[in-house]
Amino acid sequence: MSFKKKFYLGSLELSNNIFYAPLAGCSDLAFRKMSKIYDPGLFFCEMVKMDALIRYDPNTFRLLDYTKDMHPIGAQICGSKPEIAYHSAKIIEDLGFDVIDLNCGCPVDKVTKDGSGSALLSHPERIGEILHEMVAAVKIPVTVKIRAGYDDQSVNAPEIVTIAEKAGAKCITVHGRTRKQAYKGLADRDVIKECKARANTIYVFGNGDIFDVPSAHHMFEHTECDGIVISRGSMGQPWIADDIRRYYESGEVVERDTNAIKEHLLKHFQYILEYKSERKALLEMRKVGCWYLKNCVGVKQIRQELNKASSTQDMLDLIHNFSWEESNERTTCAV
Ligand SMILES: Cc1cc2nc3c(=O)[nH]c(=O)nc-3n(C[C@H](O)[C@H](O)[C@H](O)COP(=O)(O)O)c2cc1C
Repeated sequence: MSFKKKFYLGSLELSNNIFYAPLAGCSDLAFRKMSKIYDPGLFFCEMVKMDALIRYDPNTFRLLDYTKDMHPIGAQICGSKPEIAYHSAKIIEDLGFDVIDLNCGCPVDKVTKDGSGSALLSHPERIGEILHEMVAAVKIPVTVKIRAGYDDQSVNAPEIVTIAEKAGAKCITVHGRTRKQAYKGLADRDVIKECKARANTIYVFGNGDIFDVPSAHHMFEHTECDGIVISRGSMGQPWIADDIRRYYESGEVVERDTNAIKEHLLKHFQYILEYKSERKALLEMRKVGCWYLKNCVGVKQIRQELNKASSTQDMLDLIHNFSWEESNERTTCAV
């Protein structure tokens, strides 16, 4: 499949088949406000833990804050216990989310140590059990996000596609790296292609290394996936879904000059300030600023300056006084 202007997950109508991934520590309310401007078919809050959800932990619920105009919106849960998956999924549906996703890809030790995230890849039958509970609990579409496998010797994503399909999941996102790879090397698109060939009713979305229109096009062409999920490519490029859509709809290649990028950074900062204390907003801008500045001359130096900014005015001065000269070198975002 290629780009689709209308896309259905069950009975849920989405404006297209380009999704933005859940990004722990990144896809917060401000990030999603920026994303919404460019209308990806679906985007997600940051991942939340099932255990924390069913404890009604306030910090976890805060990660799930969204505004009415953000629909359709997805939540992603992470956990390894089928016995709490039903309750967790119900909470997400009751909060008004349109889609619920199960995380089977997070490589971070503090997540995998209790068997959650990518640790589930070594226990595919448990993925089926958890999904089964989630599907039984809710009417909204249940989806799942996996990696190619645990390591090169145990690439089992195609097997998990069948398990997820049988459990009733509507869509599976396949990140073409193994857990062992973490974020290193390139994502293997052949394994995504194999997953798509294995699927009967479940949609397969391709994920990994989509940073621009050509890489999105290659993902569609090479894997024949039903849609794409953009992750690091959405950091500091909230417009990427729009660029891809315009390319498919009219062949238009959109150029975003550094002035436009500056305006977006200012807007993103404003959204952060509306939601967080000044202190937290300034800390957040150390990361967010780098996303938007990554293709500019002098990024190394301004990174250090961003770390020192001690007030909103300091930060605004930095952004306004920066040269915003485009560099010929292209870098991807630091993880
Ligand atoms: C900072 C960061 C946070 C992430 N958080 C999540 C997450 O919460 N849930 C998830 O399924 N994947 C998460 N991922 C993985 C990405 O969604 C994606 O699978 C991975 O980065 C590969 O895609 P990319 O090469 O296009 O970035 C995260 C990745 C990064 C870099």
